[in-house]
Amino acid sequence: MQSKSKYASIHYNSYLQIDKITSSQNLRSEEFGNAAHEEMLFIITHQVYELWFKQIIHELDAVKSDFSENKVNEGTIGIAVGRLNRVIEIFKLLVQQIGVMETMTPLDFLDFRNYLFPASGFQSFQFRTIEVMLGLKKERRVTYNNKAYELEFSSAQQEVLQKLEAGKSLFTCIEEWLERTPFLEFGDFQFINAYKASVEQMHTKEKESITKSDYLDEEGKQMRIKMVEDTQSYFLNIMNEDVHLELISQGKIKLSYKATIAALFINLYRDEPILHQPFQLISKLIEIDNQLTQWRSRHAQMVMRMLGKKVGTGGSSGHEYLAKTASSHYIFDDLHNVSTLLIPRSDLPTLPDDFKRSLGFYFSSSI
Ligand code: HEM
Repeated sequence: MQSKSKYASIHYNSYLQIDKITSSQNLRSEEFGNAAHEEMLFIITHQVYELWFKQIIHELDAVKSDFSENKVNEGTIGIAVGRLNRVIEIFKLLVQQIGVMETMTPLDFLDFRNYLFPASGFQSFQFRTIEVMLGLKKERRVTYNNKAYELEFSSAQQEVLQKLEAGKSLFTCIEEWLERTPFLEFGDFQFINAYKASVEQMHTKEKESITKSDYLDEEGKQMRIKMVEDTQSYFLNIMNEDVHLELISQGKIKLSYKATIAALFINLYRDEPILHQPFQLISKLIEIDNQLTQWRSRHAQMVMRMLGKKVGTGGSSGHEYLAKTASSHYIFDDLHNVSTLLIPRSDLPTLPDDFKRSLGFYFSSSI
């Protein structure tokens, strides 16, 4: 006799609740007796976005939770890299989907736009949740009409956002993880001192080759040497903890000094086996920022095409407001800016042998 399965059978339709989803498109234009064909596309596109937003939140939640721990092992970093990569792939889809929306012409949009006031994407709770989870701070947000973004939401939703803002964002989790990087000091080897010495040497070499150059006249040489010295003092300033703290207090940068040095170390020595995954993780965060910014820019472009200079249904200046968010709502910009501090592999400080061995595959890290 065949044993009965302990799982009750289920149908595609009920498992995925297809009826619920496909009966959730209520055209306002139809309701007002003036059915507009394009409104279906408008609704479905937004709904698909919201479903993907839900998946992004699911992934970010898991990564944040793993990185809230004081100890993150290599396996966990690998899983996080995979999840963040999924978020990146979803964002790519979200950017692409704007092309589908743009098959609707501005004139078609006008057939139903008046029925939508004051509804707006500005009221997307899940979009705000993603921004806050990643680490966008209230004080860094572009606002319009002096309106706090959270006032668009119910008090229960406002509470969720306030809790998220008060807790650790992905940015904070990653900052703390970087600060715990154990490799910055190893016996007598101090990464930051070795790095500063290499930068100094690199600039001295550059100045020497300018001085010896047969192509430049005296004036040209002086000008070039001055340029190298400017870069040199830029490096020294940025490597100075007090200057770094001052820049943070002025709101110009966010990532702590220690975390920045760790991110620099990981970038410079990413070829060492133990640093492969941390480097991947940093790269994925930078890519998420890139994709989100691309979405903001594409959405702003689409809005310019659809509305021209008209204001948005939510009351903003439309394209102008959205373009500002694209240029200023970066979250991991300090990780992008680590590139400024990179020096050629040939100028890197040589790591002591025992340290290099520790960076091999068999080291069990505590970051
Ligand atoms: C014809 C298509 C669209 C137009 C004309 C449009 C227009 C606008 C405008 C003008 C704003 C600024 C707020 C306001 O004044 O209303 C805005 C914000 C927003 N829209 Fe759209 N939108 C369109 C499609 C979409 C789609 C498909 C999504 C996907 C969910 C979306 C998501 C958002 C989000 C999340 C915001 C807030 C952005 C921020 O404040 O940083 N929009 N939209």
